[in-house]
Amino acid sequence: MSESNAVIRVEGIRKTYLMGKTEVHALQGVDFTVEQGELVAIMGASGSGKSTLMNIIGGLDYPSSGSYFLDGIEVNKLSKNELADVRNQKIGFVFQGFNLLARTSAIENTELPLLYDRKNRFKNHREAARKALERVGLGDRVDHHPNELSGGQQQRVAIARALVTTPSIVLADEPTGNLDSKTTVEVMQLFQELNAEGVTIILVTHEDEVARYARRVVELRDGQIIKDVIQQPDSAADDVRDLLARRKAAQDLEAEALAGDAATTNQGTLDAG
Ligand SMILES: Nc1ncnc2c1ncn2[C@@H]1O[C@H](COP(=O)(O)OP(=O)(O)OP(=O)(O)O)[C@@H](O)[C@H]1O
Ligand SMILES: [Mg+2]
Repeated sequence: MSESNAVIRVEGIRKTYLMGKTEVHALQGVDFTVEQGELVAIMGASGSGKSTLMNIIGGLDYPSSGSYFLDGIEVNKLSKNELADVRNQKIGFVFQGFNLLARTSAIENTELPLLYDRKNRFKNHREAARKALERVGLGDRVDHHPNELSGGQQQRVAIARALVTTPSIVLADEPTGNLDSKTTVEVMQLFQELNAEGVTIILVTHEDEVARYARRVVELRDGQIIKDVIQQPDSAADDVRDLLARRKAAQDLEAEALAGDAATTNQGTLDAG
């Protein structure tokens, strides 16, 4: 079933939750294919089904009907254990709230998914974790605990943890939702770099400011895809550079103003004396 390069193939997926006697139709017939190497942003209003779709793609939840193929494997047909292995080998997750263990260092957090490496694909867990942290630019922070890291650094640890198993795909649900705008652009720069190295990435966001860095934007409404477009993405690296230049210019201005103030104050003192 893998005649194309599709990492993800979702066909006619529906998901209905039962709340007491009421049915909630979270997904109402979604067809969706993601090729190897894509960077896709999934957008849509709150309640439109974004997380439901991500959870199904990530093998955290089953659809009510329809089929889902991951790297050509039909996920709905797997047993719980088989699904856990597929998830561990092929999917890396990044969440809005980072989900790091507080009393555990960056490198130990990054190593965690390797505990479930039942096929022993990795001989040296510590080394694999160190490489993943270096890849996200945190080679000098391996022993820091989450409370000793900035929000952006914590999210980069979470991204390292997602990458440590060398997954086919990284799924990120509102990865920048808890970050300020500068840190958001930095995290998007990292996603763009990883994507350029060949990592397939699907991220959920409700911000245009984030989606503009993706080459493909999919929009959900009421559990259906209403838009699926390819665009020329903005370069997050360029935006980080602009931000830094603007910040430097503002600091220079402030320094000049302060120097000016100091000069006038001195002048005032002299006049008074
Ligand atoms: N476990 C659940 N049980 C019952 N209903 C659910 C459950 N999870 C989600 N829903 C419902 O399914 C619909 C889609 O929810 P989902 O979490 O996928 O939305 P979302 O697009 O991720 O929204 P947000 O932007 O707020 O995160 C909503 O109406 C929600 O109330
Ligand atoms: Mg959600």
